[in-house]
Amino acid sequence: MRRLGVNIDHVATLRQARGGAAPDPVTAAGIAEHNGADGITVHLREDRRHIQDRDLEILSKVVQSRINMEMAATGEMIGIASRLRPYSATLVPEKRKELTTEGGLDVLGHREALHAAVSRLHDAGILVSLFIDPDLAQLRAARQVGAEAVEIHTGTYCEAFRSGKYEEELGKIRIAASHGKNIGLKVFAGHGLDVRNIVPILSLREVEEFNIGHSIIARAVFIGLGAAVREMADLIHGAP
Ligand code: PXP
Repeated sequence: MRRLGVNIDHVATLRQARGGAAPDPVTAAGIAEHNGADGITVHLREDRRHIQDRDLEILSKVVQSRINMEMAATGEMIGIASRLRPYSATLVPEKRKELTTEGGLDVLGHREALHAAVSRLHDAGILVSLFIDPDLAQLRAARQVGAEAVEIHTGTYCEAFRSGKYEEELGKIRIAASHGKNIGLKVFAGHGLDVRNIVPILSLREVEEFNIGHSIIARAVFIGLGAAVREMADLIHGAP
């Protein structure tokens, strides 16, 4: 069965808007798990704009499923991950120079640094995924630096989906997912996915896991978090 990782960053974004305690991302994680989430994803950003260190500390103690920590490949973040030992770490770009043209991590341009970061995370027993564009050279570089998984950046595809002409972008993801699996990588996907645009991506059997945040939290405003997670979990789990 394919997995849904629910990204709860935007619950923290709402809390930070008033600087208080509500809404609490830890409560959100529990509700997500009760409604079919297979994992909880949080991005501890260098600027701490949403998730705070304390959130991650508490989540590490209470999450029953898996924590996927999105992070920049910095010494500080690797230190925090090594101490808290999330199930997985997804390395993402936070600065423009770490980006490829479309927005994923430029693994090819940062092979040495990423190889060192991946090794340190492996030393702590953490599975490492790299967030990359659907680009074959980046996929090969991800394998070379020792990552077990890649998360294919679906943002450009999702934008194309809105215009109705998405076959070309879907094709890039299809080729990347198949190539990734062939070279021994686990293939995940995320960014911009919602209940509509995920449907064509679900036809790509190589994609094992989906990390989804904004659309679930946006829908939760109207139908409640439990129902919003449940509808996405049912879609993903029900796909052949
Ligand atoms: N995957 C990664 C690597 C991300 O950085 C993000 C955004 O934080 C997501 C998935 C989730 O994207 P969205 O909030 O658009 O669903």
